[in-house]
Amino acid sequence: MRVETIRTYESRLPAADPHPYRTGAWTPNLVEVDAWELDVLEGEIPRDLNGVYLRNTENPLFDAISGRYHPFDGDGMLHAITFEDGKARYRNRFVRTAGLAAELAAGEPLWAGILEPPALSKRDGWGARTKMKDASSTDVIVHGGLALSTFYQCGDGYLLDPLTLAPRGKAKLEHPTFAKGATISAHPKVDPATGELLFFNYSCEAPYCHVGVADAKGALARAIPVPLPGPRLPHDMAFTARYAILGDFPLFWDPARIQEGVYRAKYHPEMTSRFGLVPRDGQGPLRWFEAAPTYVLHFSNAYEEGDEVVLEGYFQGAPVQARTPEDTPITVFMKSLDMNAMETRRHRWRFDLRTGATREEALDDACSEFPTIHAGYAGRKHRYVYAALGEPGMFLFNGFVRTDVETGTKSTYRLPKGVFASEAPFCPRDGGASEDDGYLVTFTIDVAGDASECQIFDARALERGPIARVRLPMRISSGTHATWAPLGELGAAEGRTLGAEP
Ligand SMILES: [Fe+2]
Repeated sequence: MRVETIRTYESRLPAADPHPYRTGAWTPNLVEVDAWELDVLEGEIPRDLNGVYLRNTENPLFDAISGRYHPFDGDGMLHAITFEDGKARYRNRFVRTAGLAAELAAGEPLWAGILEPPALSKRDGWGARTKMKDASSTDVIVHGGLALSTFYQCGDGYLLDPLTLAPRGKAKLEHPTFAKGATISAHPKVDPATGELLFFNYSCEAPYCHVGVADAKGALARAIPVPLPGPRLPHDMAFTARYAILGDFPLFWDPARIQEGVYRAKYHPEMTSRFGLVPRDGQGPLRWFEAAPTYVLHFSNAYEEGDEVVLEGYFQGAPVQARTPEDTPITVFMKSLDMNAMETRRHRWRFDLRTGATREEALDDACSEFPTIHAGYAGRKHRYVYAALGEPGMFLFNGFVRTDVETGTKSTYRLPKGVFASEAPFCPRDGGASEDDGYLVTFTIDVAGDASECQIFDARALERGPIARVRLPMRISSGTHATWAPLGELGAAEGRTLGAEP
């Protein structure tokens, strides 16, 4: 392996940092590197796996402004591994956001994080809540040949070359009706049938939510208002050939506290959930369908079937966790990030377009989340879902489960104790014909061994463990979302709509 250090950053975090999401598997990386000819520790990199696996990370350089750091506040850092002809190279880079640049110039944190009151922010900023740093650390996808990095609290979409991770400016998606600093949320989607980018945003300004549609080159085609009863906290969206789908869940900032400048999410189990079917062409009415109260972080897919729109995702049995007499603010905080405590279960909602009725069914008793499918099946009926298994007590993944949704058959793989993984997208094999003909790719973090690997699994034989293990040049931090793009799809960046440099 050859490694070149590109840049080293200074951490301004406390020296003996006690924070569970800035230590251990979540220790931030301070060095940006390029590495080639990565060593294969076991197995072989398949020659028919040619593409790039990209993973975003919350990687803080500064402490929270009042010391109350939340793991979703950290600065975005992308980690990328590219496979070509059985060889691998790796890179990592911060997403060069305007917020990170300002804090590096100032030498101090400038914005209050999600657990802190916005009044503490020293500058105007971004976010649905307003006065946040747009950390661009939640999600990454590839659209129109470029990587698009986004933040769950809304901000700008940052574009990067998916292979070199060189910054390519901001996605030009602003619209006069969008709230300032809240252009795009995490979890934009690409429709493989049209190449369009579907995205949403949310804010504290009526109508509180929009769906945006950009063409295959990234130019905004339309902005569709999604009027809500008040500020809501949608995290993900889904789509079918005709509809964008958004949730209105009864977990939202307490409106009375917002007046006091406090943004505290409150769950209302007495209310229903609602799902909005938004016509993608901007024509025709938006239709709402009611469902059982819950909160959904992630959807696996949606599709149309006869007169029904079918949506699959992860129902939370406990969007807010019960408190025990032993609980402290720290234990409550830790539970709020644990998918096991949230009781996330695979679930299906069917919306009848004729009657307006919803039918819903629980599909699995076991906990999993962070689903991926073959990206070519997004928006149409899929058969296989791959999801992550959660380490009890922490936001960490300790395994994967594959589900055949037609038969309900599942297979699982658990990592060795103390080793954690990243979201593992399905990567189709070059020339693969069927939906599950491909691989899963993930980054692992071995805390005790102080090492990271990239592991490749046969998607049809997940339970057998990795078919190839590739050593990374350093232990990398755990992170949130990841994506896969075949090399053959990366030539589309020419003629792409680009926004301003940050
Ligand atoms: Fe997410």
